[in-house]
Amino acid sequence: MLLRSRVAVAATAAGLATVLFGSTASAVPAPGAPGVGDPYYPNDGNGGYDVSHYNIRITYNPATDLLTGTTTILARSTQELSSLNLDLLLPIKSVRVNNFLSRSTANTGEVTVTPPRPIGANQNLTIVVQYEGKPSTVNDAKGANYWKKTPDGALAVDEPHIAKWWYPSSDHPTDKATFDVSVVVPQGVEALSNGTFAGTQQTLNGWIRWNWRTVSQQATYLAFLAVGQYEIRSSSAPNGQPVISAYGDDLGANGPAARASVERTPEVTEFLETQFGPYPFEAQGGVVSTGIGFALETQTRPVYSTAFFPRGANTSVVAHEMAHQWFGDSVSVRNWRDIWLNEGFARYAEWLWAENQAEGTAAEIAQYYYDRRPAEDPFWQVVVGDPGAGNEFNIAVYDRGALAVHAFRNAVGDEAFFETLQTWQATKKNGNGKIEEFIALAERISGKPLFALFQTWLFTPGKPAPEDLGNAAA
Ligand code: ARG
Ligand code: ZN
Repeated sequence: MLLRSRVAVAATAAGLATVLFGSTASAVPAPGAPGVGDPYYPNDGNGGYDVSHYNIRITYNPATDLLTGTTTILARSTQELSSLNLDLLLPIKSVRVNNFLSRSTANTGEVTVTPPRPIGANQNLTIVVQYEGKPSTVNDAKGANYWKKTPDGALAVDEPHIAKWWYPSSDHPTDKATFDVSVVVPQGVEALSNGTFAGTQQTLNGWIRWNWRTVSQQATYLAFLAVGQYEIRSSSAPNGQPVISAYGDDLGANGPAARASVERTPEVTEFLETQFGPYPFEAQGGVVSTGIGFALETQTRPVYSTAFFPRGANTSVVAHEMAHQWFGDSVSVRNWRDIWLNEGFARYAEWLWAENQAEGTAAEIAQYYYDRRPAEDPFWQVVVGDPGAGNEFNIAVYDRGALAVHAFRNAVGDEAFFETLQTWQATKKNGNGKIEEFIALAERISGKPLFALFQTWLFTPGKPAPEDLGNAAA
């Protein structure tokens, strides 16, 4: 039965003649898949090629929200392609593939590019896309828009979906690349992005070009753009890395508390290195804005809502976003269902940092989070190992997720616990991981069967028993 359907698929994809003559190689170019097969978001990313670099070169006008861009994508084909797809919501003016003008048809974020001749397998591709539009006016297939227009600029910061509002890509964490981001804005406006600062240039019309470079592999959703009125602070971390942070001019009374928190980023990073191993990237920093209601671990330079700082300093959120540099950015989800590997560990890192700052031990904080919600609370019904599309950032993924991490630590002891975290980081650096792989590594390093523990904490609705947490009785 299975064999039969396989033959039928092969006959369709490769052409009847090939199948009749028994060859396994595809002789007929096929369209690249519109997605990489993420169970939550089947159209995210694209099949048939791998991206190695994005050169994003845009002009943005804060007065009109008009974004005019030329993005050059360096990639390599992984199959013979009659067409390939890109993920982009803005209107396209032209697409060239290896300098050949190509036909493009767009369907709410899914762009099909057909070059005049098919592309062979394992070819270098240079895809140049010219596009122009107002990001705030283009919605995705679900009618949503995550572009954040502000009075003096805009923010391209969200998860899992933001890239398609400002540059064409293969928009899935499994297709990482390096980035150059170059942004022209009016004189007196700042434009921030990831990585190291490569200087500004005056443009002929009196505007200014800001250049940013990311040399570490980066997932598409972790590339960011912040345009507006910012005070930029540059320094060096004790390890010599550039630290560039930016604070919106409109932070008001929360501004000093935001600075007093985000300016400690290198210290937080040094602490996290003692827990997770070497910091995986080339620069550090943070951006604080009123234009966003959450924080996001944009690579090397998280973006924070000013709303995190109403009562003075909050280094907890800094520890959270910097922990994501390891758990999320360097080691990214294989599929979005693996989001516990990001949020469970970032929340747990807050508890480790609190203990380091003598603000309670991780065990005490875990006990507090366990006790504070009764078994009837719907919180305990969320399956944090597979929360469902659109539910990745349910509070349970964070809080129950961190309790799962602490239960694992209690079960195996500190030595195996930290060895597992550091080995996971070392072996998966700049890559992707899934929950099942983490559990397998944890079992290998600890020599203990852990399937039942993770089954209880990650995949079984209901409040686990106190023994499942494993804290020593108070
Ligand atoms: N990873 C982010 C964090 O650090 C999650 C932000 C989710 N919020 C959103 N609106 N997408 O918690
Ligand atoms: Zn997080």
